[in-house]
Parts: sequence; C-alpha cells; structure tokens
Amino acid sequence: MRTDTAKPVRLKDYRVPDYLIGKADLDVKLHPSATRVGVRLAIRPNPRGCPNAALVLDGDGLTAKRIALDGQVLDLQKTAAWNGFITPDALTLNAPPQRPFILEVETEIDPSANTQLMGLYRSGSAYCTQCEAEGFRRITYFLDRPDVLSVYTVRLEAEIGEAPLLLSNGNKIASGKIGGTTRHFAIWHDPYPKPCYLFALVGGGLGSIFGDFTTRSGRKVKLGIHVEHGKEPQAAYAMDALKRAMKWDERVYGREYDLDIFNIVAVSHFNMGAMENKGLNIFNDKYVLASPATATDTDYAHIEAVIAHEYFHNWTGNRITCRDWFQLCLKEGLTVFRDHAFSADMRSAPVRRIGDVRTLRAQQFSEDAGPLAHNVRPETYMEINNFYTSTVYEKGAEIIRMLKVLIGDDAFYKGMDLYFARYDGTAATIEDFIACFADIAGRDLTQFSRWYSQAGTPLLEVASSYDADAQTFTLDLAQSCKPTPGQDKKEPFVIPIALGLVAPGAGDIPLRTGGDAGASGAELASGIIELSSPRRRITFRDVPCRPVPSLLRGFSAPVRLDYAASEADLLTLIAHDSDSFNRWQAAQTYATRLLQRSVASIRAGEAPYRDKDFLAALGTVIDTNADPAFVAQVIGLPGEADIAREIGEDVDPDAIHRAHDALAEDIGKERQETLLAAYWRLAPEEPYSPDAGPAGRRALRNAALAFVAAGDKAEGAALAMRQFESTSTMTDKFAALCVLTRITGQEREDALQAFYAAYENEPLVIDKWFALQAAIPEHGTLARVRALMQHKAFSCKNPNRLRALAGSFAAANPTQFNAGDGSGYDFIAGLVLDLDVKNPQVAARLLSAFKSWWILEPQRRSLAGAALQRVACAASLSADVKDIAERSLAH
Ligand code: PHE
Ligand code: ZN
Repeated sequence: MRTDTAKPVRLKDYRVPDYLIGKADLDVKLHPSATRVGVRLAIRPNPRGCPNAALVLDGDGLTAKRIALDGQVLDLQKTAAWNGFITPDALTLNAPPQRPFILEVETEIDPSANTQLMGLYRSGSAYCTQCEAEGFRRITYFLDRPDVLSVYTVRLEAEIGEAPLLLSNGNKIASGKIGGTTRHFAIWHDPYPKPCYLFALVGGGLGSIFGDFTTRSGRKVKLGIHVEHGKEPQAAYAMDALKRAMKWDERVYGREYDLDIFNIVAVSHFNMGAMENKGLNIFNDKYVLASPATATDTDYAHIEAVIAHEYFHNWTGNRITCRDWFQLCLKEGLTVFRDHAFSADMRSAPVRRIGDVRTLRAQQFSEDAGPLAHNVRPETYMEINNFYTSTVYEKGAEIIRMLKVLIGDDAFYKGMDLYFARYDGTAATIEDFIACFADIAGRDLTQFSRWYSQAGTPLLEVASSYDADAQTFTLDLAQSCKPTPGQDKKEPFVIPIALGLVAPGAGDIPLRTGGDAGASGAELASGIIELSSPRRRITFRDVPCRPVPSLLRGFSAPVRLDYAASEADLLTLIAHDSDSFNRWQAAQTYATRLLQRSVASIRAGEAPYRDKDFLAALGTVIDTNADPAFVAQVIGLPGEADIAREIGEDVDPDAIHRAHDALAEDIGKERQETLLAAYWRLAPEEPYSPDAGPAGRRALRNAALAFVAAGDKAEGAALAMRQFESTSTMTDKFAALCVLTRITGQEREDALQAFYAAYENEPLVIDKWFALQAAIPEHGTLARVRALMQHKAFSCKNPNRLRALAGSFAAANPTQFNAGDGSGYDFIAGLVLDLDVKNPQVAARLLSAFKSWWILEPQRRSLAGAALQRVACAASLSADVKDIAERSLAH
C-alpha cells in the first residue's frame, strides 16, 4: 500500500471485531495471470461487538467480479442499491444483516505480477502464498486481523501439467481429475479455527520426500517436504530435524501435533525465513536444503533451528494466536525461546548460548541503542511489517528466559501448561500469558512486565569492595536506562543477576549474607540476585580472600554490564569460572577493552595497543581439552560493529577495522605455532556429519586458519589454497575461500572464479559467493558490487540474492558501507528507492542498515543523514520504507 492514506495504528484503540467469520470456504482456480478466487463466508454479528456497525472487509489491490449476499447477487455498478461500497482496498456493507448470513465474493488476481511476495505469488513456476501479517487481503476481501478465527475448507483447481501438487492447510479430504479436461482439483479441510494470516496454498510441480511420525498418544502423522525437482536428497536433514522437533515438543512441553499430515514447502522467492501456516509451512529454501557439498555447518544449524521454530508455532502461534499485531512477541518471542532451548538440547548448551548472545548483541542491542528502538510490545505502528525485528524476536525470547530464571523451571512449565489450557483455540495477549505465571508462582509480575513496555538496553553498573579484616565482600548494583525515541524516563526493571564469587584457583565461594545488605535464602541458594530497585547493596560474609565476581552468568538478563574488572580478574575468569558463558565473556570483555584502546591509539596517530597477557591466555585456551566449539568462540573476537556499539559515539569504522586487523595479526603472529598445531590436530573427518561435535572441530580448525593467515599472509594463503582445493565439504571450502578473499591479488580472483564455476547451478551457494565479495573490506568493493549487480546470476527479484549482495554490503562491510565519502550510503539509498516499487518489505529491511548512524563521527553522520533524507523525501514511497526512513531520522 502506498502511503497517502497511512495512519498510525495504536494498541490503545483496540476494539473487538463487530463481526465474526465462522467458516471460510475457498474455491481457487489457479492461473498464471488470472487466478479466480471464490469465497463463501459465514458471517455473524459478534455479540461482544457494536450492534449495527458497518461491515468493512479489508482488501489490498483487489478486483471483485461477483458478490452475493445470502445467495442474492449484488450489482457491482449500483453499490448504493445495496448500501455498500467497493474499492480495491475495502468491501463495505453499511447495514449488514444482524443475524448470521452468507457473503460470497469472487475476485481475480494476477500471481505472476505479484513482486511484493505477499498474498498469492509465483516462485519459479510454483504458486504459493504468504499471508502474515496482512497478505490475505491481497487474495480476497476479509476481516484480516488475527482475532477473527475461522474454519477453512479450500478447493484448489489447476492444470495437471502446471500444478500436479495442490496443497493447503489441514487434511486432504478429496481430490481427482476433472472429467474431460486436463485439470484436476484437491479439497483441503482444516478443522482448527485459525486467523487468515495462517492460511496457505501451494500449487506446482515439486519433488517430494515423505516420512512419518507417531505421536506419543499413538497417532500416525504423515510428513512431506516438497522442494524443487532434483533437490529431494537435500531435504533429508530438514526431515530429520522435523522429527526431532516433534519429539522434543512432546517431551519438554507435552505438546503433540494435531493433524494427520504436516507439509513443508521450500520456495526460492521468500521475503523472510519461513512461515508457520497451519499444517503447511512455507520456507525460504535456504532453511530447508542442505548437503555436505553445498551447506556449511552454520547452515545446518540454522535449518534445524528454523524447522523447529515453525513447527513449535503450531502450539505457540497457531493453537494460541495473537489478539492483535501488537502482541507479536507473544508468539515470536516465545517460539524463539523454545527453538533456542531445542538447539541447546540438540547441541552444546553453552556454545548455543554464546551464539545466541552474540546475535542478540549484534542485532538487538544495536537496534535498541539507535533511532529504531521500540518496545518488545510496541504501542503504535505505521507498518506492521517493520516490527518483525530482533527486539520482538530475540529480546522477546530473553524476557521469557528471565521469567524462567526468576520463577524456576517447575513453575515455568506449570505456567506454560496453564497457558495452553486456558487459551487453546483463542487469540491472546501478553497480559494473558504473564497472568498464567503470576498465578502459578503466586507472584506479582507487574514490574517484570516493564520489559515489554520499555525500550532500551538497561545498563547494570556494579562496583565491589573487599574487607580483608571482616572477610566481607560488598557489591553495589545500580541500574539505569537511557531514553529511547518517545520514552524519556524509564522505571526500574526486574533484573535477575546470576552470580558467583570465584576464589582464584579454588572454585566458587559459598554465598552467605546477613543484616541490612543481605540477600534472601532463595537468592543465595540459587545464586540469582534480583535487582528491582535502582540500586542495591549486598555484602557477602565469610569470604576468606578477595574473590572475582562472576556476574550475569549465562547472560541471565539482556543488559549491558559495566564492571571495572582488572585484567588479572578477567584472566582468572577465563581460566577458572565454573560458568562457561562467563569464561567466554571474560575473553570478550578483555578483547573489547584492548580493541577500544587500540582504536584510541590509532585515532591519535599511534600504533595499535598490544597486550601479551591476553595473547598468552588465548594460547592456553587453544591448548586445553575444552570443547573445540567452545574454544572457537573464546578466540573469536568481538565483531567490528560490537566495538562500534561499545564506543557508542564519534565512531570511526576505519579505525575500528584497523584495530581489529591488528589484533588478529598479533594473535596469528604470536600464537602461530599453537594455531598450526590445532589446525593439523583437527584434521578433516570423513564422512561428513553436521553434528555439533565434528562441526565444532571444523569451527576451531577454520578459526585457527583465519588467524594464521592474519599473522602471515603467505603461510595462510598457502594453507587456505590447499584446503580450498582438497575439500569437498562446503564448510571447509567456504572457510578457505573467506581467508583467500581477504588477501588481495590474482589468487583471490582465481579462487572466486573456480568457486563460481563449481557451484553455478546451486543458487544457495551462489548467494554465498555474492555475500562474500560484498563483504571484502577494501576500497574497490563498491565497484565490485555494482559490477556484480550486472552479473547474469544476479536478480533483484530474488530476496535471497539481493540480501546476499546488497544486504551483506550494508550489514557486513562496515568500512565500505560507511566509506568516508558517503558512496556506500548513496548506493544503498538509491537501491532502496529502486527496490521499493517492487518489494517494499525487502527495501525497508535493507534501509534499516542505517540503524546505527547516530553513533558515527560527524562527517559520516551527516552523509548518512543526507542519504536517509533523500529516501524520506522521495515521492510515492511505500508505507514500509517511509516508516523506516522517518523513524531513522527522528531525534
Ligand atoms: N512468522 C514467521 C516466523 O516464524 C515470520 C514471517 C513473518 C514470515 C512475516 C513471513 C512474513 O517467524
Ligand atoms: Zn516465528
């Protein structure tokens, strides 16, 4: 929708619908440019709604061909005769019957012309739909809001040759050829009432693999995964992940699948990751297809997580859905929380936690610190598509994690059971959800709920003092939170702080307190201190030596910690903390500090800062027998964007990049022997397995390779070239190519050529090829990216391709996107404007690469601001892009 009519939607204006749609029968005749959609809606006044209200069905660019009310055909030319109104964007009955009635509408739509990829569109030759959030209104007129739940029966009809496979939600109840024609049909019925955003249909010629799953109550479920012909073997891992997810949800949450069939369809054109349509998940194919030769270990892990995420939505999202779109985190935060727990169980929990926190900080903390900061439950929006954010998803998941930490596992799972029992089959709110836990735990969660209504990352400041005579150790805790757009003042949060006191060399000191600065018995027993006031002092007794506090173990709350640990303390934690997350964190904190010092030196025209103790500590970690995946995380430096966020103002991306490179070079030089030893020790394993164990060994080996190359280009290039040429698994091949692309010269170009030639017919691998080149931190990259846009394999119409090239340039190439002459900003701004006409959702997401522009040094800041202005001022913007541009610019 273009912006001329856009008005903000506000949570406080929520009203129940005046009409309900109990049943929706669809009859869809698929045609490439003229698909006919007939609907028969059983509508009734909502007893809780406003009597005699007008009925306004949502539409978006629709053409009505026929309308009938209780069988009476309404003349589309004489709308006054039936007291109604019809436009492409709404069908209004000013005085609908105040009793149940049947409304029939026929629309004609053009799926081939649908470049927004919302509603019914074509991906390759297949037909598919995407209805969340407001895509169903592009298929037919409807009450397109999540609190209108209907039972759907869908008849699909198509040319057999064009669409041999016809799928929709629920169970298939009939199918067959249409006598005397080349056409066939299928009828699908979904007995579970659902909001229209969960509607889906697919038609096409796809290759299928099947499996089955017997639920714990003994019901047999047929599983199907449908992919492009020839790609069937690449769906095997997704099938396996699906079965594991189904089993896990039974074991951990007691949730069984509820239909006889579960289908997943993979398409190459998809705006997002995947979609949880009831019984018919539709996926971006990058989250389904994998083979050792085409997918990296990270790809496998993502597939496992996304397959589980969409499956878990069946209970958290579908059986219980959202009352309105402000409640998006009710399904998304909770489902991310569930998929994180699943991945942690399938793999290494500490390593998963580190990965999740890295993502949270990189995506969500940066969002929370900039102009696009918003509540986990927003209170107003211009365009809901712009709220599928890491704040809603990842921070939403962190809130549930904190809740579990605060009330304990037992109360948490009982609360979840209560939630399922109370709200199954309904559309619920965050208040409904939280009340279940308050009831079970017997605890007032009003203050805790501020996590949903206050944006921004709280700052937790901690100071400590040790009294050797009294053998006491005192912690002074203080919380604060900076203003965010529209929220000047913040009230205190409830922050669960998991902590331990580490006695160097002797493990954790038992926690004991007493008196005024005491902690409750429950806090001491669990090691979880609650900070709910602005400040709190806690004095621990019987502390025989000065301990090193280990704060926020497991990252128990999504806050920024400010504690002036000495370098010696950090080294103690790296070596001895019983909490592996904080061992990793201590190394990150150390590296961050070092890098910040280096950035300051570089900007003062001096050499980068160096620290031998840190290099020694990393060497020791590499030599331990710890889990290689964990070691890879410990030696993995914080990203350049993380450093930028820590610096927080007057940021110079070039200086950060130089500091980062210098530290990597230092590590590579000083620890070359250790790194090479690890590289050779962790030789490739055959046959390839995507499991966490071997994947972790590959991660460490490839991290070692990258450091060796940073320290010694010739040695690194030789090793990388050998690996590149000898391996057939994508993880190792791609890691080698990454190393080679960081070294300028002909070898790099040859390797890129060879890679392209080898994978020309594997689009997902070609995406990697584009992404890698767009991220090269060199002056020539923008020209390279421009040239690649003309490459025969590039297409702006494929969101994966666009994200691979332009998205990677904007999000993964800080020095070139932020080039001092503004060329990177101009390039992305121009692209956003071009793209907006075709696919506003993807354009808006690309524009959000500017989310951290506030913290830049003045020159870049003004260039970035000018580029944003240029977008904001362009004529006829989509609501999506206009919203992001305007919020980014507002101070
Ligand atoms: N609901 C999808 C999920 O599982 C995300 C999505 C939103 C997909 C909107 C498409 C469109 O997270
Ligand atoms: Zn989701």
